[in-house]
Order: sequence, then structure tokens, then C-alpha cells
Amino acid sequence: MGGKVVLAYSGGLDTSVAIKWIKEKYDLDVVTLTVDVGANDRDLQTVKERALQIGAVKALVRDVKDDFVKYFIWPALQAGALYEGEYPLATALARPLIAWNLVQVAHEEGCTAVAHGCTGKGNDQVRFDISTNVLDPSLKIIAPVREWRMTRDEEIEYAKTNNIPLLSASQKRFSVDQNLWGRSIEAGPLEDPWNEPPEEAYEWTSHPDEWPDLPEEISIDFEKGIPIALNGDRMDGTSLITRLNDLAGKHGVGRIDHIENRLVGIKSREVYEAPSAVVLHKAHTWIEDLTMTRDAARFKAKVAAEYADMVYNGQWFSPLHQDLQAYVTSSQRFVTGTIRLKLYKGNIIKGGSQSPKSLYNFSLATYDKGDQYNHDAAIGFINIFGLSLRNQAQTQLKGNSADDMLSLGAPEEPTK
Ligand code: ARG
Repeated sequence: MGGKVVLAYSGGLDTSVAIKWIKEKYDLDVVTLTVDVGANDRDLQTVKERALQIGAVKALVRDVKDDFVKYFIWPALQAGALYEGEYPLATALARPLIAWNLVQVAHEEGCTAVAHGCTGKGNDQVRFDISTNVLDPSLKIIAPVREWRMTRDEEIEYAKTNNIPLLSASQKRFSVDQNLWGRSIEAGPLEDPWNEPPEEAYEWTSHPDEWPDLPEEISIDFEKGIPIALNGDRMDGTSLITRLNDLAGKHGVGRIDHIENRLVGIKSREVYEAPSAVVLHKAHTWIEDLTMTRDAARFKAKVAAEYADMVYNGQWFSPLHQDLQAYVTSSQRFVTGTIRLKLYKGNIIKGGSQSPKSLYNFSLATYDKGDQYNHDAAIGFINIFGLSLRNQAQTQLKGNSADDMLSLGAPEEPTK
């Protein structure tokens, strides 16, 4: 057959074995692409050498951190995208960017196929495959781990017989994916939802025994929904996220333990560490509280849930995404201001919030001197606002006494 394929290469066991396996099975020369989306635990020069040593004809490394922040992380933060209200989507957000880079390299290097190391059970295969299909439907997709059906032991055996050096990391108890926006940890002891996650699952957030005894106050400035400064220092997004990961992680902030609904129908137990994402989502919401009307906030919460599902389900490169994004961008026009908060023993404690676009109006809110709210108008407002309930009480609920109203619809006693 001959020809070339570009493989998304992490340097781990699966994708290392894939280099050999693809050559053997498909007779394609393998170009590896290692995409740096931040917070890599491996030295990328070593990863590159490893790919070449195993048999890649070319090994490329691309630093895409700034694109990741600009096109994926910040928009998702502005959207308030938390999957099922919990997961800040670190892994899900990086996949379409990796796919986009794979397709670019495929074109540059004249490859007819792209390959990734996803299994057939997860969401990541969906994200890679759909993104690739949308960006260039002519590219064939090879997913060795989904295709080869080797057990872990057989895979290690295959690695040994093919002189693929094993890293100690391949003996790890968990399956981990990480980038700037968070660390996703699954499998091993986490597969029993009754098990408390073992401490060694965590790397970015400190053990409760090590949480500092003094709280640390920080401030974050937002401009149109995007964080622009930490503690008053203006900095680029990659630096801000990296620095905040350290700060908040030190105080144990950012651990998430989630029973999650995968797109493929499986419930899975996922543990995340996302110190920056958790702090920034909270802070961002607090600026929105100050600057968005009630109606706008209610509507945006619905969009946020849709947006999160869309990202999770691998539909990043879609007109729906572009349309939702246009709404989100517009919704952030006034989301500018500063949040003060404390990091303390796993908690984020709000200090204060301020905004030049604040809708908080002291003369309306105050109970003290300077009150400009029209108290008399409240009576008429309540009269109209409560009209439908009064009407209903006098017609449909006429047979029920005021006494009944306490227990109507109440839950039954728990079984003894
Ligand atoms: N459940 C998460 C998601 O679907 C994380 C997947 C993490 N992948 C991994 N290899 N550990 O986005």
C-alpha cells in the first residue's frame, strides 16, 4: 500500500505501540505529531526522540498553548461551559484543536490518513473522528487501540517483542489526560464509585495535610468575560492559567469527582483537577452576577448547558457552535470588572466584586439613607404579580383549607 499517516503522539505506551502496529498492519510510514496543549508531564524533546527511535519517519512537536487559550479555553469560560454542571471540559476542548493540527500536518506532509490513540469506549474517539471528518472528509482515520483489541498485558508483550522501550509511567494505575485547563483521571481504583480517590490520583492539588493554614487572597480582572490580570499584574492567558493552577492547587482548590454520562451511553467515574478552571469559572460568574440582568443570566444558563454538551459531544466544528459562540461573545460586552477572593483549605471564598458596568445600584438596594426605591409602587406590583395565584386559590383550591396547604405535595415518610 505505502503512503503516510500522521499520528497524534503523546509518548505513552498506546501511541508508542501504535507507531509499530500501523506500519505492520497498514504499511504506512508514520509521522508523529505531539501537540503541546500545556501542563505536559513529559519532556517533549524526549518524546520526539522516542518516536523516531521506535520507527517514525518524522516526529513533529507543536506548541499550540496560545491557540488553545484564545480559541477554546476563553470562549468556553465566557460561555460558562461546565459539563453536567461540573466538568470544565479540559480534555474535550483540546481534542478539536489537536484534530485541527493533525489535519494541517496531514496536508503539509502529504498524508492520506490520520491516527489517534483513543479506545472505542470513550468520548475522545468521537471528538477526533468528527472533527477530522468535518475538516477533511478525504482523510482516512486509523484508531489502533480501538482496532487491535489487545489486552494491556498483550500490549506490553507486543512492546517488548518489538523493542519498544517501556516507561515506568505505563505501569501507572490510572489513565490520565492533561493540559493547561485541567487533568482528567480515570480507571483503576476509581472504577468503583464507592472508593474514595486515592491521594496518588492527584498531582496538581495538594493533600489536605498540606493545605496552608492561612488563606491567600487574590484578585482577578476580567475584560468582556476574559481574565486579563492576576493580582493586578496584566499577563497573557497561558501565564495566568499556569500561575493560578499553582496558587489554587497549593490550597487544594479544584478537585472534582464526577459520575459522568459519556456520549456512548456509559456512566463513568471521572476525577478531575482543574484549579484555574474552577476558580475562573466561579469568578467569572460573580462578574456576571454584577453585570447581567436577571433575564439575560437565566437565558445564558440555558445556552451554557447546550454549549457544554456540544463541546463534550465533539461538535466543536459546527455551525451550531459558531452560532452559540456569537451569542456568548455578545453576552460578554459588559462582563468587565474585578473579583477579590480567598483560597483556603479547598475552598474559594468570595471577597468582593466591582465593575465599571455594574448594574448594582446602591440607591435602589440600600435600606439606609439615600433610598430611591418606590415603596408604594410595590403594593400595586404585588397585586398584579400575585393575581393568577389568588385566582387559582379561589377556584381550584377552594376545597382545601389553609391547614392542608402545608402538607399538599409533601414527600412520604422514609421507610423505617
Ligand atoms: N471524561 C473526560 C472526557 O470525556 C476525560 C477523558 C479523559 N481521557 C483519558 N484518557 N483519561 O472529556
